Amino acid sequence: MSDGFPAREIDTSRPHPARMYDYYLGGKDNYEVDREAAQSVIDVFPDIVPTTRANRAFMHRAVRLLAERGIRQIVDIGTGIPTSPNTHEVAHAVSPDVRVAYVDNDPIVATHAGARLLGADHTGFVLADLRDPRAVLGHPAIGELIDLDQPVGLLMVAVLHFLTDAEDPVGLVAAYREALPAGSLLVLSHATGDFHRHDHGIDRARDVYQDKKATATVTTRTREEIAALFDGFEMVDPGLVQLPLWHPDGPVPGPEELRHIGVYGGVARKP
Ligand SMILES: C[S@@+](CC[C@H](N)C(=O)[O-])C[C@H]1O[C@@H](n2cnc3c(N)ncnc32)[C@H](O)[C@@H]1O
Repeated sequence: MSDGFPAREIDTSRPHPARMYDYYLGGKDNYEVDREAAQSVIDVFPDIVPTTRANRAFMHRAVRLLAERGIRQIVDIGTGIPTSPNTHEVAHAVSPDVRVAYVDNDPIVATHAGARLLGADHTGFVLADLRDPRAVLGHPAIGELIDLDQPVGLLMVAVLHFLTDAEDPVGLVAAYREALPAGSLLVLSHATGDFHRHDHGIDRARDVYQDKKATATVTTRTREEIAALFDGFEMVDPGLVQLPLWHPDGPVPGPEELRHIGVYGGVARKP
């Protein structure tokens, strides 16, 4: 495993986004400090709950599409605390030979991954920071599972909003794109304030991450800013959309459902 947070920061005194997300999803892998921060977010911005559920459902539909399109290796960056069905479970339901490398910079995710992701065939975990693409892609566990000469499914689902503009998310996605062969597919979702322009709750929710000194803060972005993350890729239909509109399993969601969902997502192909 390579570097995540320094060991001294593996504690339960600060809220971790991974554990807060687990709480939004109704999980039990969180501590008092996470529950308190996550509940403060829910109190000011209740739409965080349907938004995180929509995000997880998008991830499932997108992974299914990757496997159906013949992708046999996936790098899932910003894994989060395992929540069934996880990426490999969704992919294996289509094709049991898909290899999945999970990547997260939170050692707590690594601990849970060890217990709940790595028993399965063809899975691995890398403790690394996505801001260091060389460390991620050059990691021995990636080398064992992923052949960078064959198309890769790259997941960056609900993770890039934890990077500030100064950390250059556009440049980072481009660095991963350059390292992957043609035919690779990018799955990306990202928080936005576009659907909550008159709802100051979303600003207060962002402040909670800052005020409670969470290990990462949130930067929401506009559709245009999120579209720029896909530079150099060709969008797969229906393009970059509010998550429930991306290949819905059931009827197309109406405005009442959509107004609660503050995330865009899409899938794109490296030409
Ligand atoms: C909101 S969770 C998303 C989990 C999962 N991808 C999903 O969408 O259901 C975000 C995850 O990204 C991880 N993360 C945040 N910043 C990261 C970074 N710089 N490098 C790697 N992982 C990061 C967090 O630790 C957390 O587990």
